[in-house]
This record gives sequence, C-alpha cells and structure tokens, in this order.
Amino acid sequence: MGELKRVTKTLVGYLQRPDLYPELGRKIIKNIFKRNSAFRGKEKTNVWATQRAVSQEQAIQKLFGKTAVPFAEQFRTVYDESVRRQEECPVKMGGAGALELIYEACEFTDAKSVVETGVAYGWSSLAALLSLEKRGGTLYSSDMPYLGQNGDQYVGYVVPEKLKKSWKLFRHADRESLPRIFGETQEIDVVHYDSDKAYDGMMWAYSQLYPRLRKGGVFISDDINNNSAFQDFCEKNGIEPTVVDFEGKFVGVFVKN
Ligand SMILES: C[S@@+](CC[C@H](N)C(=O)[O-])C[C@H]1O[C@@H](n2cnc3c(N)ncnc32)[C@H](O)[C@@H]1O
Repeated sequence: MGELKRVTKTLVGYLQRPDLYPELGRKIIKNIFKRNSAFRGKEKTNVWATQRAVSQEQAIQKLFGKTAVPFAEQFRTVYDESVRRQEECPVKMGGAGALELIYEACEFTDAKSVVETGVAYGWSSLAALLSLEKRGGTLYSSDMPYLGQNGDQYVGYVVPEKLKKSWKLFRHADRESLPRIFGETQEIDVVHYDSDKAYDGMMWAYSQLYPRLRKGGVFISDDINNNSAFQDFCEKNGIEPTVVDFEGKFVGVFVKN
C-alpha cells in the first residue's frame, strides 16, 4: 500500500471512531512538535541494556526459580492452531513477545488479574490466558485498532474461542483504555506493556500501571531499547530490573518489592 493511501485510510479510520478522537489529537500534536522525542535516551539505554542482558531462560530461572519449557512444546496443540490462524489472517500485525516469560510470570504470581497493553494477533494474550484459565482469573487488554488496514476485527485473532471468557479487551488507545481497566481491577498481579513505544507514552503508562501492581507482582515491558523510558523509570523508583535479550531487542522485567 502506498504511503499516502495508508495515511488517508488511517485518517478515515480515526474519523469513523469518535472514541479515538483524543488519540488522533495527540498523534497530530506529536507529529508536529515532538517528532524525535520518541527515541529520547536510546543510545545510553542500549549500552546499559547490553551490559546486563541475560537470556529469557536465565531470567525465568533467576526470577521465578523455574526451568523454562518452550511454549510451542508445552502447549503444542494450541500453539500449532494459533500459528495456522496467524498464517490465514489477512491483516499483518506486530510480532509476539516473550511468551515463556509472560506465562511463567502468571504462574509465579498465581495471577488472577493481568493487564496488558498491545494485543495485535494476541500471542501475549494467549500466554497469559493459558495460565489465568487455571484459576478463573481475568486478562484486561488495551489495543488500538489497526485503522490503516481494517484490522479491528482481527485483534486477538490467534486466541482460541474457549479462552475468551477470561478476557476483557478494551479497543481504545491506552490513555482511554487504562482508566477504564482500572475501574474494573484495582490490584494487578502481572503487567505486560507492549503498545505505544514512544518515550512519553511509555513513561505515562508505567506511572499508571506500577502503583496498581501488587507487591510481589511482575512487571514486564517489551522493546525497552527504543528509548530510555524503562531505564529512567527504574532508576527513578529504585528498581533493579532484569534485562532480557530477546530476538534482537530487549525486554525489561522485575518483581515489585
Ligand atoms: C507489538 S504489537 C503487540 C504484540 C502482542 N503483545 C503479542 O505478543 O502478540 C503492538 C500493539 O500495540 C498497539 N498500540 C500501539 N499504540 C497503542 C496505544 N497508544 N494504545 C493502545 N494500543 C496501541 C498496536 O495497535 C499493536 O496492536
């Protein structure tokens, strides 16, 4: 799709969804006044993350005291069916996060309430739901629809029907979704952040999510190498995070003291 066609389609998508007007306003302001601030501190953070990075398996062992079993092995039937659904999906979306880390974080905390931002195909949702269903917990997810691709209907496409009873999906930008989610759950066991990757968006969401994460809960953020938001947030709050080297990017994780 040409750039002009994509931008026009996205704009038309926004105009058809009045509930997304606040996000449209923020995007316009960001593009005019703050084009480069999304990547603030990127170089410093990449040095910091590279120095402390461990593998996903090492992180799971260190934080949760468990030997990670590959997700595809542990949930072979569900996984194969989800791969098949991703392949048949006509809309192309963002890739999966660190599934074993998310699943084990839910197991470690005996999670009943998980909040995630960024769903796309729904791989991270699947990982959380497979743990939550064991104890009747709920996953609260926030995802902006894929306006440029008519992708709204495909958000969470790889999640099997039978797991959806444990799932509440809020289809707004985080700044609108999260207040609605906090209206339904006050004490969160696991946070998985994987949506807006700009510095200000990450900082804003972290500052909303962290106070609501219970003591002993697990906080995971994907793509912490885009800017220094995760590093700055951890330093400001005296948090010693674990950094996971995952498929060419870094994921940040910590257990709240
Ligand atoms: C990398 S994908 C998420 C992948 C998913 N966690 C997984 O493991 O399959 C990022 C998603 O975040 C959503 N997103 C981006 N900015 C957002 C925002 N400000 N509010 C809510 N969702 C947003 C995008 O629509 C996209 O679906």
